[in-house]
Amino acid sequence: MVLKRTSIVLAAGHGTRMKSKKPKILHEILGKSMVLWVTDSLKNAGIDEFHLIVGHQHERVMGALEGEGFHFVYQEKQEGTGHAVRLGAEAIRDLEAYDTVLVACGDTPLMKSETLESLILAHEESQNAMTVLSAFVENPYGYGRIISEENRVLAIVEEKDATEAQKKIQYINTGTYCFKGAFLKEYLPRLTNNNAQKEYYLTDLLKLAVEAGLRVGQEILQDENEGLGVNNRVQLLKASEILQERVLEKLMYDGVSFQSTNVYIEPSVEIDSDVYIESNVTIKGKSKIGQGSILESGSRIIDASIGEDCVIKSSVIWDSEVGNGCYVGPFAYLRPNTKLADYVKIGDFVEVKNSTIGHGTKIPHLSYIGDGDLGERINIGCGAITCNYDGINKHKTVIENDVFIGSNANLVAPLVIKEGAVVGAGSTITKDVDSGSLALTRAPLKIVKSWKKK
Ligand code: UD1
Ligand code: MG
Repeated sequence: MVLKRTSIVLAAGHGTRMKSKKPKILHEILGKSMVLWVTDSLKNAGIDEFHLIVGHQHERVMGALEGEGFHFVYQEKQEGTGHAVRLGAEAIRDLEAYDTVLVACGDTPLMKSETLESLILAHEESQNAMTVLSAFVENPYGYGRIISEENRVLAIVEEKDATEAQKKIQYINTGTYCFKGAFLKEYLPRLTNNNAQKEYYLTDLLKLAVEAGLRVGQEILQDENEGLGVNNRVQLLKASEILQERVLEKLMYDGVSFQSTNVYIEPSVEIDSDVYIESNVTIKGKSKIGQGSILESGSRIIDASIGEDCVIKSSVIWDSEVGNGCYVGPFAYLRPNTKLADYVKIGDFVEVKNSTIGHGTKIPHLSYIGDGDLGERINIGCGAITCNYDGINKHKTVIENDVFIGSNANLVAPLVIKEGAVVGAGSTITKDVDSGSLALTRAPLKIVKSWKKK
């Protein structure tokens, strides 16, 4: 029998404590919106339908999440979690046919898919009307408390409605639950807002189920951190740190070494074994790092791929490809659409943009190469640059194999310097140079004797 599962993710709230113009659930953690951490975890737990309840800044939220395949449900006024889920449930066709309607909050990004999976399985195996994910916490202040008797859950009481004795209970409601579709259909309309906050509490469903003699259950969270809700920037950073730790742990078990945990690495990044990463390295987006490479302190790799056995010293590499055995930096800047073949050396204070650099070519110091197509085994002298921009258009510089460019040369594009040619130091080259020839522009040296005395 195939079990039918769907989900409702609550995300209509204001997120006032973030003190931000941006809706809370769009704040990013390791390069990914908070809410997508929730839905990705749900996906990995076997859920592939999402009803996202939006309210505050709903147009911006829907715009940002367009293309994620979510069903958006607009809640105009936030009248409580019970009201939000009722709107979500109304949007689910054949609601009563669902074994599991998982309800989660868009601001609890630390929930692991393994945890959600065991919640779903426990719910389905016991055929419960409702199963709540609870946690035992050090400080329960602010949470709904789980009221139980001899291991049977009986009710959830909100902080503001709790008696002094109930406030001492350390078992809390994480805000994540599974419901049977048929139960929601029948009982959601029975919720009232007769409580301290004049809100429709989703949590009241537990008591209604118990009173009707229906089966209810709880799954207790093992790691308290997983339930962390993000309401302010302090919790946002805490969530980032925990998620970063998880990303780094996985990489380390896969054979990557770190000098310290003081790095920023997004979960989308792929890193091969035997890579060594020093402190203060950032790797973002669709980046890949090949086996045995070393990334030294201060390097930033953004949407770039680095081959095997490279050494990257305190450099920025952005939307570019680096071959195997390359040496980059210190303090080099590879801008978008740069492609280095194998064994290329890009040295200190060199900037390369929109260029291909062939096998074994060296650009060791203080150069700018823009819109260049460089062959193999070329040596570019210190300070030599391409003059690729005439103020209106960008032009290409082609340098063929085995060319030697002297120091401080200016290569005024468009230009072709053919195979094996030599450009003398200090020259400004404005015309193509034939294969094997020497190109030199040099004003004659004038020495005026005894100049200083005069
Ligand atoms: C809720 C639970 C509480 C639990 C806590 C866990 C209720 C009544 N209480 O309390 O037992 O311990 O979560 O964090 O459910 N939302 C909407 N529409 C609304 C109201 C809320 O979408 O009308 C969304 C919010 O954006 C938020 C989530 O639902 O993502 C939870 O709402 P919130 O007001 O934070 O509930 P709590 O008071 O924290
Ligand atoms: Mg809350």
